[in-house]
Amino acid sequence: MTDKPAAIGKVYLVGAGPGDPELLTLKAHRLLRQCDALVYDSLVPKALLDLVPERCERHFVGKRRGHHSVPQPSTNAVLVELATRHRLIVRLKGGDPFLFGRGGEEAAHLVNHGVAVEVVPGVTAGIAAPAYAGIPVTHRRAGSSVTFVTGHEEIDKRRPGVDWQGLARSSDGLVIYMGLHNLRRICDELMAGGLAAQTPAAVVQQGTVRGQRQLVSELGTLADQVEAQAFASPSIVVIGTVVNERVESCAPEPADAEMPIPF
Ligand SMILES: C[S@@+](CC[C@H](N)C(=O)[O-])C[C@H]1O[C@@H](n2cnc3c(N)ncnc32)[C@H](O)[C@@H]1O
Repeated sequence: MTDKPAAIGKVYLVGAGPGDPELLTLKAHRLLRQCDALVYDSLVPKALLDLVPERCERHFVGKRRGHHSVPQPSTNAVLVELATRHRLIVRLKGGDPFLFGRGGEEAAHLVNHGVAVEVVPGVTAGIAAPAYAGIPVTHRRAGSSVTFVTGHEEIDKRRPGVDWQGLARSSDGLVIYMGLHNLRRICDELMAGGLAAQTPAAVVQQGTVRGQRQLVSELGTLADQVEAQAFASPSIVVIGTVVNERVESCAPEPADAEMPIPF
């Protein structure tokens, strides 16, 4: 039996930010300029892929049209293998790697396989997309708590589903990732949990980049409007009185940048 080759490199789990390339951190920028290998997926701004050196070995592990995402074990294996041949590997993920990004799973896998790993936090879409619509995700007038929650519960059937009725009672504001597919059920559950149909709500699609659009509405009619206006992924949903604190004029112009969209 042959021994597996030892790792010589280090993997950086890097947050790419929500789309606008200018929201990349300086640290992420430096690592992209230096990396020997790059592993990236769908929600990564295209402009960032041009930052890597020409010699850099690139691996796309996201969804392609008509295909499923590369399974997580394959991505883990690619990262471990790259660390046996390269010194500096960037694993680039949309937003922040540790927020609904499986960064924690990849970090643990790499450590368990003797590979050095470091996380580089990024600007998450749940804060940036509302901000580019002028919506602060907290405000003193709108309570003192905000919950980041996934609406894509099938993501892992081993976990219990989200207690939407409980959240309606316990959190002042909700920032929902991957929420469009189940939006009608989520809104119904939140109202069953005590939120009024008039609770302010918003959706921001394609936040911070070309094609950004937003809808400001109320919980009771949100699902109908999202359907009628054909909102699509990637979108962030914000629910709570914080939406009333929107200051439209402070919203930046979305960047004239393109982001690969998950199919
Ligand atoms: C798998 S999660 C990854 C979240 C990412 N780690 C982050 O911190 O932003 C993907 C979801 O993030 C949200 N998302 C990512 N980029 C977005 C953008 N530019 N505009 C709106 N929503 C976005 C969408 O809800 C999308 O379905």
